[in-house]
Amino acid sequence: MNIKTENLNKQCSKKDSADIKVLKSINLEIRTGEKIALIGASGAGKSTLIHILGLMDRPTSGKVYIDGLDCFSKDDKFLRNVRKSSIGFVFQFHYLMPDFTVLENILIAVWKDKKSKSKQAQDILSKAGLLHRKDHYPSELSGGEQQRVAIARALINNPRIIFADEPTGNLDRHAGIEIEKLLFDSADALASTLVLVTHNEDLAKKSDRTIRLDDGFIV
Ligand SMILES: Nc1ncnc2c1ncn2[C@@H]1O[C@H](COP(=O)(O)OP(=O)(O)OP(=O)(O)O)[C@@H](O)[C@H]1O
Ligand SMILES: [Mg+2]
Repeated sequence: MNIKTENLNKQCSKKDSADIKVLKSINLEIRTGEKIALIGASGAGKSTLIHILGLMDRPTSGKVYIDGLDCFSKDDKFLRNVRKSSIGFVFQFHYLMPDFTVLENILIAVWKDKKSKSKQAQDILSKAGLLHRKDHYPSELSGGEQQRVAIARALINNPRIIFADEPTGNLDRHAGIEIEKLLFDSADALASTLVLVTHNEDLAKKSDRTIRLDDGFIV
């Protein structure tokens, strides 16, 4: 799937203080199957941008087109359905559910179909090298393992677009390389578009293209 934005702006207002302009007239185009590294200093607006591109947050103004469809002209229910059917999201903090096992965490988004999806979930876990941990709880896993579960969870719907927000941020180099590989290989296998927020220069080099944000602008 391809993504295009037109004059995307995001402003955050707080009582008793001036509005903060987090994204300023963002125009970008990401082609189907492209692997993009989104880089920029802390606070530049990277997470805000991919939350909007991933249809989890609305812009203050401007458009996001996914395969030509003007997404934010639609209601929240429609956005939810696009998210469910087409988008996988790996968050900056993994947000696994502590009282669910690894396998259950992966199946949460498809709970109604958990029986029929269980085999696929285990295949994904196996690719992530974690099948033997499927009945463990997140607190029993290392940070890198938890992040791999979060990636597996994002892949359960065969997403056409994968967003990952600094998935290797808190990990050592070795664990980080495994996560990177899992994401790139998964995007290849699904022929999906990948947008990866990273501070890691090596990782940015492996992507097809780098987009740099600076204080809410694309530079
Ligand atoms: N809901 C909000 N209300 C007010 N300010 C916000 C809100 N969300 C984000 N911001 C501000 O917008 C700016 C961009 O935040 P964002 O989380 O997108 O940055 P980032 O590039 O992802 O940074 P990091 O690399 O630290 O994750 C920051 O200054 C942040 O404080
Ligand atoms: Mg961020």
